[in-house]
Order: sequence, then structure tokens, then C-alpha cells
Amino acid sequence: MSKASAPGKIILFGEHAVVYGQPALAVPVTQVQAEVRIDRIFSAGIRVNAPNIQLNEKLDSLAASHPLAATVRNTLDALRVDSLSGVAILIRSSIPVASGLGSGAAVAVATIRALATHLERTLTDEQVSALALETEKLYHGTPSGIDNTVVTYAKPVYFVKGQPIKILRVKYPFTIVIGDTGIPASTKDSVRDVRVQHHKRPERFETLFAAIGSIANTARQLIEGGMPESLGPLMDENHAMLRSMKVSSPELDHLVAAAREGGALGAKMSGGGRGGNMIALSQVSKAGAVARALREAGATNTIITKVE
Ligand code: PMV
Repeated sequence: MSKASAPGKIILFGEHAVVYGQPALAVPVTQVQAEVRIDRIFSAGIRVNAPNIQLNEKLDSLAASHPLAATVRNTLDALRVDSLSGVAILIRSSIPVASGLGSGAAVAVATIRALATHLERTLTDEQVSALALETEKLYHGTPSGIDNTVVTYAKPVYFVKGQPIKILRVKYPFTIVIGDTGIPASTKDSVRDVRVQHHKRPERFETLFAAIGSIANTARQLIEGGMPESLGPLMDENHAMLRSMKVSSPELDHLVAAAREGGALGAKMSGGGRGGNMIALSQVSKAGAVARALREAGATNTIITKVE
């Protein structure tokens, strides 16, 4: 039996602009995990069992473009394994899907690592991340690569598309409260809508992307310089920019406002938007109150996570 797990993730700053080459910051969320276990079984072929999505099928019966099937096939190709038979792959995840918590990337990373372990082979983090990016393309179309990167390395990252990963050096830990609107939303759709708007008004969008990139750079300096409590206003500014790009939603705006009223130092939507999760920066002592305020305002789930 072989096992691997991977954490969820949340984007702190820079979503959408990161697709256009600007920097973004993202951190792992270890309170939620994807877990993959591989067992030998007495029947031919590869059985894939993912109870969360009511899937229990032979790999061969899944379409080549199915993200789970593609992850397994791409990994076997990368390991130069022609055929694998007599195994069951069990995929379980506590990461909500389509909510900006990196569920697709975490399932891919855990599957890739469990397969490599099962086959007694080693893949570098770089290889794991590159393979998970191929799966992300099936979910998102044109992913920047931030999700697979932060989930693979399971460390806070400063990410620029196409550039080698930089781990963020968090000088003093800080607390983030994550609130879920409970509304699943397609990142592929919101990324496409931003592309359409960018096409219509390139100058306005280039200016917005650059302003978001500059927020991400300032945030990095504050985090590495030991002033995380000053990130609040940057979150507020970043949220206003995402709103003007029309990727927020009334529910996200409502939770963002509730977090601020509940004592957060700043708040913003996170990820693709239109639904999914938002984040709020909070003093440790106020995190419980902020989470309560979010639930009272309609959040279907809250997670308090320490960034370190
Ligand atoms: O919705 P999420 O958390 O998977 O994040 C998407 C982040 C975007 O910047 C909107 C897209 C991307 O590929 O980076």
C-alpha cells in the first residue's frame, strides 16, 4: 500500500493578474487535505475510486480528458511505465471543489506522488508540479501554475508565471480567516471573462494588473520584513480592484464587509471569484470573532489558518 497527501491552498494577493505575468502570493492550507492511497487488487487494470465525486470506475472507461485519468496516464508516461495493472487508487479529499482552495491541484499532486511511491520511483518537486500543471490545464484552460506550485511545495510562495519558484520567508506568523460563500464557481469562466474585458479595454486592464502586481510586491516586503499586520489595507485595495474587474459577487462582497465589521484588519475575495472563498487578515485574538461574524453573514464554512 502506498499513500500520499497534499494540502489545500489559498491565494493571498494577485489572482487574475498572475495570469498576465504579475506576481502573486499563495499559502498552503493544511486544515484541508487530499489523500490518495494505492492498493494491489486481484483484478486486472486500474480501478479509480473517488467517493467525494461518486466515481468508482476502471481507468480505461474514463475519457482521456478526465482530470483523474489524465493525471494517472501522464504520470505513468513520465515514469516510462507502459502498463500498470491490479491496482486500486482511492482518492479522498476534504477540500471543497470549485471554491479556490486548490482541490484539483491537491488531488493531482497526491495522486502523482502516491503512484511514484507505489512504483518505487522518485519524482522531484519540479516534476510533480509540472505534471500537476498538465492536470490544471484540463480544469482551468490557461492556468498560471500558482495552484500546483504552492500545493507541491506546501510552503508560502511568491509566484511569477514561468519563473522558478520563490519561497516566501515569513518573518512573523500571521492569521488568516477563510470564509466560504458555499457557491461553487468556475475559475475557467472568470479567467475567460477577464480575458474578454482585457481584449476590449487593454490599457485599463494592463493598468489594473500592474497595480495588483505592485500590491503583491509590497505584501511580500511586509511579510518578509515582519510587518504582516499592515497587510489589511492591501487586501482591501486588492479586493476593490478585483471588484472593478467584475470577478467578485454580491455574496463575496457581503462576506468581505462582514469580516471587516467583525474586526478583521482587511479582507478580499480569493481565487477565481464569483463564488468560492474570501479571506480576512485578523489578529490571532480576534480570529474566532471574525469567523463567527462570517458565519452569521452566511458563510457555509470558515477556516482559521496560520501563515508561517
Ligand atoms: O480559483 P483558484 O483558486 O484556482 O485560483 C485561480 C487563480 C487565477 O489567478 C484566477 C487563475 C490562475 O490560473 O492563476
